[in-house]
Amino acid sequence: MAAKKPLNVVKIRKMKEQNERLTMITAYDYPSAKLAEEAGVDIILVGDSLGNVVLGYDSTIPVTLDDMVYHSRATARGAGNTFIVADMPFMTYHGSTDETLRGVRRLMQEGHAHAVKMEGGLEIAAAVKSIVQSGVPVLGHIGLTPQSVNTIGGYRVQGKDAADAKRLMDEAKALEAAGAFAVVLELVAEETAAAISRELSIPTIGIGAGRECDGQVLVFHDVVKYASPYMEKRFVKTFADVGSQIRGGIEDYVNEVKNGAFPAENHVFKADEGVSESLDSLYGGGRSEEATQQNAPSASDKEKVGTQG
Ligand code: KIV
Repeated sequence: MAAKKPLNVVKIRKMKEQNERLTMITAYDYPSAKLAEEAGVDIILVGDSLGNVVLGYDSTIPVTLDDMVYHSRATARGAGNTFIVADMPFMTYHGSTDETLRGVRRLMQEGHAHAVKMEGGLEIAAAVKSIVQSGVPVLGHIGLTPQSVNTIGGYRVQGKDAADAKRLMDEAKALEAAGAFAVVLELVAEETAAAISRELSIPTIGIGAGRECDGQVLVFHDVVKYASPYMEKRFVKTFADVGSQIRGGIEDYVNEVKNGAFPAENHVFKADEGVSESLDSLYGGGRSEEATQQNAPSASDKEKVGTQG
């Protein structure tokens, strides 16, 4: 297969002009990035959703800059030529410009990201501007912004009434004016997302924001049903069920070790002829009678193994 041509923010904007839909998926490590890259996604997002789907937290708030750098670096090793955006985690862009730029520097230099994503609208426009001016592309993120879940009153659809729709439009425009190369719209009413997508010259990338966005993003673990806490959500479509396959494979492995089917003849390495006898003559032929009896499986253990799987 010919190597994929690297994407950049100029080409991303052009895709909107040419009505070409953008595909983005999250990835958090080498294998997820490699699979996403091989499947041909346009953009890999090292999302702070890693807090939920990889680290087992119940929100994205505990995710640190160190977590993001570590996972972004692992993702970059598997991503090939794919454009990587890394999330700025909770409270890393609300202090001084110097502090914000230090975080951005780490995600780019240590995490090997090509761009950063930030949640928020008008209140972060100045920070977006300084990052863009320093030469780093910024992806905005408005609507449901999980880092602010405690102030927006839970995971609720945004932009349903006229006032809230206008608020989102103003935020999207502020991000565009600040230099963002695209904006994620999360959990936004379809009509509002459509209007924002028509109004902006930069692409919108929707998640739970309907059919009229310029692109779509989903969380890796949701797409392939990989032990994801989000998989029952209305806006998610599951395209494969690797969780069941993995669980089934591990169950088979456990059963085969227990019942002695694995390892088999073709999985073992043989010593030279006579090695076994020479060791037995030196050490008395293995375990003592007492140890052999202690480790032997009981009749009830054997029964359990036989009924599993
Ligand atoms: O962290 C993340 O995965 C995200 C996407 C849901 C857009 O922000």
